[in-house]
This record gives sequence, structure tokens and C-alpha cells, in this order.
Amino acid sequence: MMTNFFQERNGILYVEDVALTDIAEQFGTPSYVYSRAALMAAAQEFHAALGGVVDLVCYAVKANGNLAILNLLARLGFGFDIVSGGELARVLAAGGDPAKTVFSGVGKTVAEMEAALQAGILCFNIESAAELSVLAATAARLGKVAPVSFRVNPDVDAKTHPYISTGLKENKFGVAFDEARALYRQAAALPSLRVVGIDMHIGSQITELAPFREAAEKLLQLVRVLEADGIALEHIDIGGGLGVRYRDEQPIPLGAFAQMLREVFAGRPERLMMEPGRRLVAHIGVLLTRVLYLKPGAPRNFAIVDAAMTDLVRPALYEAWHPVFAVTKRSTTENTSGSEKNWDIVGPVCESGDFLAHERPLALREGDLLAVGVVGAYGMAMSSNYNARPRACEVMVDGSEITLIRAREEVKKLWEAERILPK
Ligand code: LLP
Repeated sequence: MMTNFFQERNGILYVEDVALTDIAEQFGTPSYVYSRAALMAAAQEFHAALGGVVDLVCYAVKANGNLAILNLLARLGFGFDIVSGGELARVLAAGGDPAKTVFSGVGKTVAEMEAALQAGILCFNIESAAELSVLAATAARLGKVAPVSFRVNPDVDAKTHPYISTGLKENKFGVAFDEARALYRQAAALPSLRVVGIDMHIGSQITELAPFREAAEKLLQLVRVLEADGIALEHIDIGGGLGVRYRDEQPIPLGAFAQMLREVFAGRPERLMMEPGRRLVAHIGVLLTRVLYLKPGAPRNFAIVDAAMTDLVRPALYEAWHPVFAVTKRSTTENTSGSEKNWDIVGPVCESGDFLAHERPLALREGDLLAVGVVGAYGMAMSSNYNARPRACEVMVDGSEITLIRAREEVKKLWEAERILPK
């Protein structure tokens, strides 16, 4: 099937030792179902391939910020890459180590900077001169010294979807390569700042090694220039962006990635760090959904399911392709005549863009369960309440054990913070 952790047994799709039919019965649909063993395997793959090369792996919380997932990764020694005060609070609530946490993002507020300074994070990844001066003033006011790194834009083409490509000059991210040197000097001269590192992030879902190598080499050039200026760095953070297989992509083997880092950074004293999100969690989960109605016709056959773009926005937003599996396999003797078609899997939301998949050859009946695959990253994390739809629940399977790691949202909670005018 998809990985060892999601396999068919007697015609039914299982997550580890639990049938997805049982999860649907117990928790309803739509629901996100994760495999703990799959997460452990992904984490182990990082340790095995990158141990001895990358000193600290900071998981990008934005990919999937569920406390249970953050906690498991924290227990395995992972650090975290956060982009908001909210994500910082999540990391702390999950038992993550602030001293292993880096703070990225182009728009950090003063309040967020204060919270991160109080928590004692590893470093702020600075993305502009303006942000640098606000951080310096904030740290000075609190009597703190802020550890800083600049996110440098190496101007390389990551060859990925334009919405998730970030390393080109025209992107809003990072400081321009040519301006970095002056900014480092400026930062080094400020008493409320301590220059500790340099970082980059060139995009997401990258499946070619060459852009990473090119960007890493450019970063190293700059590190050498800074060294000559008397600015010694403690770490080099090469960001996230490692792609995964949704359909037929060929992901970069982590071993090859590690080898590239060894070659580029051979003999350097700085410790290497990285910020992967997707590669750690994409394959740990499926979105379980039930077919509500079948609407066959010309030119398209619609299977309307109870999950929508509110649960998984990637298809609508990026035309992303996710595999869709029937949870219960129809036997060939079973009468499925008329139902075996190329189905568009669509949700109940009032938008034409509300689809999960197009033209999937499946034998479907109303009431059937489907599993949308490879949704552990940027699935639940990007969900919304559009159309007053409560968010799905999240369930973690561990062998034959099932734990509800986030309850399904209650409809009445959706307007808890709202007020009707008195007159
Ligand atoms: N570090 C920084 C500074 C980032 O901006 C990101 C992701 C990461 C690390 C982690 O990247 P990853 O290893 O997951 O590729 N919502 C999109 C992906 C957006 C990625 C944004 N930045 C999607 O669903 O494809």
C-alpha cells in the first residue's frame, strides 16, 4: 500500500494493527489518523542518515503542531523551528526545549520577541534590517541579549511550486545576499545582540539536490567573508524543504543529502542545523472520510465526501495530488456495476475549488470510507472553519492502541468568542 504502517489486511486498510473501519466507527469522520511507528521511523531515518553531520534537527512546527507529535519529537531530542508566538507556546506546552528552538518568519511582533527572549530560545532567524533594530531595542529594554542569525536569501531556484518556493530574489523571505555582510557588522556592534548563526530556506517539497548544494555553497562563501571580518558563527542552519513522494516524485535520499553537507562543509567548525517539516510527518497520516453521495454524470463523476478543503486545503491551494484509497476493497464478485468510474472526490463546501482529488479510478458506493494519503504535513495544520465546519479529530495509533490526540471541534465552540450587539 503506501508504507509499512498503512497496509491492507483481508481487504481492509489498516493503520498499524487498527482497521480504519474501527476508527470511523469509534471517532466518526472526517478524521486524521496518524501512525506513531511511522513517526518513529521517519525520526530514526533522520538520526541514522544525518547523525554526525547535522548536530540539531529543528522540526518545523508549522507542518503539524499537534502537541502529541511535538512531544514525541521532543523526547527524541529534536529541536523546533517556530514562526509565531503561538507556535512557541505550543512547543513549551508539549515539553519542547526552548534552548533548541529557532524563531523564523518575516513578521515577528514585539510581543512575540519578548516571549521568545523570556523563554530563552536558541536564536532568532532575522529576515530584515527593520526587524533587527526592533529586536535589538526589545532585548535592550528587557536587559537581555538576543541570539541572532540572518536568514540569507541565496537566490537559487528550488524548482518547486511558486507558492512554496522561497529562495529567489523576488520572494519576500530573507535578507539579500549582498546586504548580509553589512547587516552582520551592524548586529555584531549592538550590545543587546549576539551573532550566533546563519540560515537559509529555499523552498519546500524540493526533490533535487543541486539547488541545496548551490545554496549551501553560497552560504559558505558568506560564512568565510564574515570570518575574515572577525565574525565567527556558532552554527549554520540549512533550513527545511526536503520533498516527499505523493505520487511519483523521487525524494532526495537523506544519505545523499548528508553526503552533500559533508562535502560542502568539510573542515568547518560551525555546527550544522536544519529545519525539516514535511519530510518528518507527511507520511505519518491519512485523512479518513466517508462518501456521502455519488453524483455520476457527464462530463464528471462526483463523489461527495464529508471531508473538504477546510480539512485539507492542499489540492485547492496548490493543485496538490494526494493518493486516495478505498478503505474496504470491493471483491470482484461483488456487484459494483455502475460504480466503477473515474471519480472527482469533492467536499461539501460551497466552492468549485473544494476538491480533494480529480479523476480517481475507484469502485464506490455511498457510505464507503476513503483514506486520503500523505496528509501528515500541512493537512490539519492548514485546516479552517469555513462554512462553520468544526475541525476534524486527530487520532494516533500505536500498535493496536488508539489515542485521541485532538477531539473533534464542537460546533458551539465556533462562536464562543463572538458577541451579539446589545442593541
Ligand atoms: N523553515 C522555514 C523557514 C520554512 O518557512 C519552512 C516551510 C520550513 C522550514 C519547513 O519546510 P518543509 O521541510 O516542510 O518543506 N503549506 C505548503 C508548504 C509551506 C512551507 C512553508 N515553509 C504545502 O502544503 O506544501
